[in-house]
Formats: sequence, C-alpha cells, structure tokens
Amino acid sequence: MNADTARSETARRGQEHLFTFWGELAPGQQRQLLEDIAQIDFSTLERLIPTHVRSAPSAALAGDPEPVDALPDQPDPGKEDDYRRAEQLGLELVAGGKVAALTVAGGQGTRLGFDRPKGEFTISPVMNKPLFQLFAEAILAAGRRGGRPIPWYVMTGPTTDQPTRDYFAERSYFGLSPDDVTFFCQSVMPAVDREGRILLDQKHRVALSPNGHGGCLLALATSGALADMKRRGVEVLSYFQVDNPLVAPIDPLFLGLHCQTGAEMSAVAVPKADDLERVGNFARVDGRVCVIEYTDLPPALAHQRTPDGDRRFDAGSIAVHAFSRTFLERLTGGDEAIALPWHRAEKSVAHVELATGERVLPDQPNAVKFELFVFDALPLANQVMILLRKRTDCFSPVKNAEGVDSAATAQRDMIRQAVHRLEACGVGVPRRSDGEPDAVVEISPALVVDEEKLRVAAAALGQIHPGAQVYLE
Ligand code: UD1
Repeated sequence: MNADTARSETARRGQEHLFTFWGELAPGQQRQLLEDIAQIDFSTLERLIPTHVRSAPSAALAGDPEPVDALPDQPDPGKEDDYRRAEQLGLELVAGGKVAALTVAGGQGTRLGFDRPKGEFTISPVMNKPLFQLFAEAILAAGRRGGRPIPWYVMTGPTTDQPTRDYFAERSYFGLSPDDVTFFCQSVMPAVDREGRILLDQKHRVALSPNGHGGCLLALATSGALADMKRRGVEVLSYFQVDNPLVAPIDPLFLGLHCQTGAEMSAVAVPKADDLERVGNFARVDGRVCVIEYTDLPPALAHQRTPDGDRRFDAGSIAVHAFSRTFLERLTGGDEAIALPWHRAEKSVAHVELATGERVLPDQPNAVKFELFVFDALPLANQVMILLRKRTDCFSPVKNAEGVDSAATAQRDMIRQAVHRLEACGVGVPRRSDGEPDAVVEISPALVVDEEKLRVAAAALGQIHPGAQVYLE
C-alpha cells in the first residue's frame, strides 16, 4: 500500500488521524506505519464499531444453558471394548499418517511477565525443558511409535513469529524434521478508543494485537497449512494451547473417540477446581454444545448444584480439541469463518495522545480490543464429542507469574504426574509427611507415549532416595 492509497483509505474510513505525525517520521518509520495500516481489516472494524464499541453486545446468555453429556475418563461397565477399539483406532490414525498437531502460540503472555514467546518458557522440573521442547518430544515420540512423522503446525503472532522460528532453528527443531514443522502467523486487530478511533501505539505504529486463538481457523486456510494437511492425507487435527505442560499433544483415545463418534469437533474437559475457576464452561444451549467463558457464566449458574449436591456446570475447558479436516475446510471455505462471533475486551492500552504526541498508559481501561475464540466453532459442528479427563493427567497451565496457574503449580503437578506414573509401574517414591513426593521426578515424553518402554525404564531405576532428582528417559 503506498502512502496516497493509505491516506485516502483511512480518510474514507474516518481514521485519518493515523497520519497525524507523518511529517515527523523518518522514511523507515513511514514504511512501518504503512505496513501496519495494510494489516487493518477496515470492513470488519466498521461492522464492529456500532455493535462492540459504541454499545456492547448483551451480556445475557442466549437461551437456557444445560450441562453437557461427556464421555467418562474410564469406560462405563460394558463399554471397555469401545474404549479399547477407540484407542486402537487413534493409534492406527497416527500410523496411517492421518493425524497432525496444532499449537496456538500467538498470545502475548502478558500475565506471565515473560517477554519471549511463551513456548520458550522453561518448565520441566529436572531438565528445565521449555514448553516447545516438551511438545516436540511428545510429537516426535508418538510419530516414531506409529512409524510415521506427525506434522506439527504452530500458530504464532506478529511479535512471536520470527523469534519462534529462530528458536526452533537454533535447537534443530528438537529432533523433528523441519519439513514436518510449519509455522504460520495469525492476523491482528487494532485497539480502538470508545469512539471507535484506532489507537497509535507509537507515532509510527498502530496499536495492533493478535485477533484471538479463533484466528487460527482462517489463518490455517490463508497460510496454506490446511491445503498442506490435505496433501499429506491428514484427517484429524489435535489442537492444544502453548501454556499447558501436562497436555498430551497426541492422545490416541481422544482422537479415536473423536472419529468413532463421527464428531466434527471434540473437546477434552476436566472437573472444575471450584465454582468460579477461570476456565471456559461446557454447556448445551438450544441443543448445541458451546463454551461459556468464566467471565460470561452468571454466578447463579456457576454455583448451581444438582439434586445430588454436585456442581451442575462442572465440565471445564482445557482448550484441547480435535478437528476433522473436512470441518475446518467447511468453516473456512465459505462465509462461515467470519460467522465466529467477535468478543470485545476493555483494556488499558498504551497510546500516543494526538494533541500532545506523548505516549501514555492509562491506569483505567481506555480501549476496546477484539478477539475470536476457537471454541465458538463448537456450535457450528454437526457432531461434538466431549471426553472428561482427570485434571492431574492433562491440565496445569502456566499463566501467571505466581500463585494459581503459575510455573510453581505446573512443576508441582508435573512431578505429581511423573510420580504417579512411576508408582503405577510398581516403583516406590518417598513421600513427605504432607503426602507430597520427596523427590523431583521427570519422565521424558518419549517414555510417556509408550507404556512398555516406560515399564522397562522404571524397572531399571533402583531405589529412589528422599530428596533425589530423577530423570527417566
Ligand atoms: C483460555 C480459554 C479458557 C480455557 C483456558 C484453559 C479463552 C478466551 N479462554 O483462557 O476457556 O479454559 O484457556 O487454559 O481462550 N492465543 C493465541 N492467539 C491469540 C490469543 C491467544 O494464539 O490471539 C493462545 C495463547 O498463546 C495461549 C492460548 O491461546 O496458548 C490461551 O490464551 P489466553 O488468552 O491466555 O486464554 P485464557 O484466558 O487463559
């Protein structure tokens, strides 16, 4: 986009103030400003200003939410064979080259206070492996077990894209073939003030931020990743977030159940830790499965109990999904992609004051940001499968610098999970008086995906002494 086109486009859209400081900018800065402007989806923004900025979409829930039916973690009596067959099917899908993994890593990780891409955050308790390495090793191992490499798609954001690519290259893709790892960058949306005017982050930079993980659907299509999946014969995509070190990137039972039940989109749920836990809530509204974000679930529903005294809305989303490739093609092939609803968030956004040229960071929300959420695709799927998993097996996110959902809680849970696995192999692990393991234990993802290998390695371990550090590979 040249300067004249950009100027007339922004003028036509009532956003000509983006050029306020044009005359002061160096040529490189002018180019940068034009590049930023070229990324703005003006027509979507114009559509959102009356509904999401000048007014806000109604906070009231549409319809009357009901709890969802979820398949249990362990098969009900009489269903053992179904689960065995589903797991076998999952393994066959991998062996047949029909499974790929997708990690969404385009967020900015502001809450964690880590200024690198979140996947670089080191987390494993003994070896200090970063999140990306844990996922890479699990995907590599699951592929080796199936005899076929598993393609891995990693969604980045504008600020994490190049650093993420460099990070993988510097570390030789953690043993994966570069041909099997595809990075693609999600789109952005501008932050606007309460009148719908786009904010300038600096005199030559527009305040742009990633358009939410729901942006992955369209970005998969526009980047060519979806076509690449089709070319490789991939039928199912295993989706997970970059912030969860306990996740199984390839879960044969989950993927097998997804296919066995004919689902277009599936999800893993865990029982909520408490009524108001900051996770999405699975519900059924007007017959369709959806996720109601913790911010949108009315407290009366969050606290509701069944006649048995159980939490009525207890299925929490850990943001693990399976997508059938054909569903993704359907979603992104026509107009349905833009049918995902936009969510608004009021945020304090640093910006340059047009009158003074000063950059300010208000302490109160001054701006609206827009995001798409991937789980809003659930109601669009013709068939949905939800599998209830044990939290200790699959979920302990790293979101905050301290307290709940921090590195400390994730490491604690990784150790607990590893110890549990060792104990299941008959290995004794010393415990402290409070019941917590008195050893720091880590199991390599290569062993986690292969129970037989884990048993052999565990049997060779010998005694674990109190306070020991144990890494099993
Ligand atoms: C999210 C889910 C919540 C779920 C919880 C589980 C939303 C709105 N909520 O909460 O339902 O229970 O995770 O941990 O998502 N990301 C991108 N691009 C973006 C924004 C985010 O790739 O534009 C990625 C992040 O890198 C991260 C993930 O999405 O991997 C989660 O984003 P975050 O905004 O931290 O979601 P939460 O509020 O923690």
